[in-house]
Amino acid sequence: MKIIEVKDYNEMSLKAAEYIIEKVINNPKIKLGLATGGTPVGTYKNLIADHRKNGTSYQHVTTFNLDEYIGLSGDNKNSYRYFMNEQLFNHINIHDSKTFIPRGIVKDMQAECLYYDDLIEKHGGIDLQLLGIGQNGHIGFNEPGTSFRSNTHVVQLAPSTIQANARFFNNIEEVPTKAITMGIASILRSKEILLLVSGESKNDAMFKLLNGELTESFPASALKKHPYVTIIADKAAVAGL
Ligand code: GLP
Repeated sequence: MKIIEVKDYNEMSLKAAEYIIEKVINNPKIKLGLATGGTPVGTYKNLIADHRKNGTSYQHVTTFNLDEYIGLSGDNKNSYRYFMNEQLFNHINIHDSKTFIPRGIVKDMQAECLYYDDLIEKHGGIDLQLLGIGQNGHIGFNEPGTSFRSNTHVVQLAPSTIQANARFFNNIEEVPTKAITMGIASILRSKEILLLVSGESKNDAMFKLLNGELTESFPASALKKHPYVTIIADKAAVAGL
């Protein structure tokens, strides 16, 4: 794992955007894996700014998001589909038909899980997967204890994850308790991974990622098994490590 240390959230966001833009320019048909949460918002802002200023094109780019809440439709403002449209897709020249996010409101969720991994495979796999990390080490919505062999699956969210994500909702009761997420194995199949980590609240997770062992009780440790991981972390996230 290669670590790039930056000053703060803004520098992380700029570096991450530059990293992604270079990949898009070199491979206009790139398959990007995208993430939600507060961490990538600044990166998406920079991608939009660059698209407007320099015209970087997403016309032939395909995206796959990591996860979605179960029970929220795409027009619910807390769904990850809504988030991605608002934060990125509506502001760049990407085709709606090329942005994929697991669907959280289909009748047969098991079929949706199989369909999603299959869809990624049919597109030749993800070239670059962008990731954030939860305070408990979750990636996507793979909570501690998730098998490293897991493909896309339905999960029960940990109380700490529901608590951490409640800030986006009116109150904690509104936060869905289940989600559909790419599994650890699905994530590790990406050819390359870019992990963004910012802020003091992620300090402990960074410590465990860098110094801890490979264990399913800390999902992000699975990244140690991947040959091509870059971490962009700010000072607060790595302070004292
Ligand atoms: C959510 C998402 C993850 C994300 C994590 C951290 O649970 N499913 O993909 O990495 O939160 O979020 P944040 O970036 O807001 O700290």
